[in-house]
Amino acid sequence: MLKKRVEKALNTQANAELWSAHLYLSMSLQFSSEGLNGFAAWMRGQYSEEVQHAFKIMRFMVERGAKPTLSEIKDIPVDFGSPVEVFEFALEHETKVTDNIDKLVDLIREENDKATEYALQWFVTEQVEEESTLVGIIEKLKRIGDGAGLYLLDKELAARQ
Ligand SMILES: [Fe+2]
Ligand SMILES: [Fe+2]
Repeated sequence: MLKKRVEKALNTQANAELWSAHLYLSMSLQFSSEGLNGFAAWMRGQYSEEVQHAFKIMRFMVERGAKPTLSEIKDIPVDFGSPVEVFEFALEHETKVTDNIDKLVDLIREENDKATEYALQWFVTEQVEEESTLVGIIEKLKRIGDGAGLYLLDKELAARQ
């Protein structure tokens, strides 16, 4: 069984992952409306990953005898600006997520819940990848500017599995 404090913190994080999913969906919609279909597809991939993160936490909670609950998804931003500004927003968001995951691990350590601490290691590692992928795309965007390079990067991002 999960301790109440751990259950509450995990439930908050699971809902935060769903909020992230919607953030990326919103970014995907902006790219779609601008005809940047590769960027849009990449952001849809990001949306799916965040939904999977939420499921991962919720499945773990159920395994430990808890019942996850959904909260309302509010205040999803729209209109992020230029492509580089969209990705800078995403990076800033992921940096906050990393911070929240670290705080979550601290809380779980305080509660001495080894199984949950171990399960959360996956998220700690995932955040490293999330941030570095976004940094890589931002660097490319800054290098290529607005011309044909953007078209090529759109093609490249469309290939995301
Ligand atoms: Fe996530
Ligand atoms: Fe993420």
